[in-house]
Amino acid sequence: MTKYILFITVPLLFGCKKPASTVCSDQSALCEQTDFKIGTAVDISLLFSDVAYAEIARKQFNSITPENTFKPTEIHPSENGFNWTEADQLQEYCRLNNKRLHGHTLIWHQQLPGWMEQFNGNAEEWDTMMKTHIQEIVRHFKGKVSGWDVVNEAFNEDGTLRNNIWRQHIGDLYLEKAFNYAHEADPAALLFYNDYGLESNSTKRTAVLSHFKNLKMKGVRIDGIGMQMHLNIPGSDPGETAAAMVAVCQHDFLLHISEMDISVNPLNKTIKADKNLLEKQADLFGKIAFHYRQIPGKYRYGMTFWGISDKHTWIRSYFNRNDYPLLYDDDYSPKPAYCKLKEVL
Ligand code: XIL
Repeated sequence: MTKYILFITVPLLFGCKKPASTVCSDQSALCEQTDFKIGTAVDISLLFSDVAYAEIARKQFNSITPENTFKPTEIHPSENGFNWTEADQLQEYCRLNNKRLHGHTLIWHQQLPGWMEQFNGNAEEWDTMMKTHIQEIVRHFKGKVSGWDVVNEAFNEDGTLRNNIWRQHIGDLYLEKAFNYAHEADPAALLFYNDYGLESNSTKRTAVLSHFKNLKMKGVRIDGIGMQMHLNIPGSDPGETAAAMVAVCQHDFLLHISEMDISVNPLNKTIKADKNLLEKQADLFGKIAFHYRQIPGKYRYGMTFWGISDKHTWIRSYFNRNDYPLLYDDDYSPKPAYCKLKEVL
């Protein structure tokens, strides 16, 4: 008898509509609500020094992307020298805390060490240099990093290939070579192409998807697409974003929402974010999460936010403006965006 009363009352208490107070408390974790990973970019120095930051990272997220630690400047500072110290510390943190570690990023046109940018060699020597760079890193973390952003931001807005140092010295084939080298070094790792604007720019998206579909048909291992998802209020259109997510799945690629944040001050016109703006931001986060949940589960690699608190967002330093793009405010209190995700996810 008691069993039946429990069956009736439990759904009433904890059924579909979650009470506002529990929805908005961060006592329960975001990542416990989903059957896909919820990730954050992590700044390793904050993770090991700021208790409040570390507590949110540990509790709310089950996937970690190093915000800078794995980038070429940090991990490969000189031609014959790799700096594994911090990257290994982060990997050990992930192992101990049962977090997936996502590797970001092997090949990019930014955050390159001087020696790499100035590398003096012919096409073959550049190719060997790129191969060594990729394979030393991927081999070092073999079996420990689940997926890699092998190449980041290789396309222009008009769908042509960006003329970065890799293309200049190796030619267009550098893209497939990079994926082949990564695959050789860790055949079990999932390999991603990562870029921004894919959710809104259909020209760029179409070019990226057809490029990688063709490579896949040629036998190159490429598992998924990272849509960075740096959105803004009022500029972003959730309908277009939903269509973009569907297109990625239709091309049979995993989809990683890989760097999500929502700027509320893209034109640098406000100092503070008012309640109305934060509600709009929450609403957009909710819509994106809703659409992500609609794609088939087998394509959902996870949803990663590009940081934890507004206090440390890359947008403030990189674009030199006030902004409030993340789920926690400057004092580490959950924002309406966090609450909305609790409701939708
Ligand atoms: C950013 C980091 O967040 C900053 O700390 C760093 O100064 C610059 O890079 N797209 C990417 C990320 O793929 O690697 C960038 O990260 C943000 C844009």
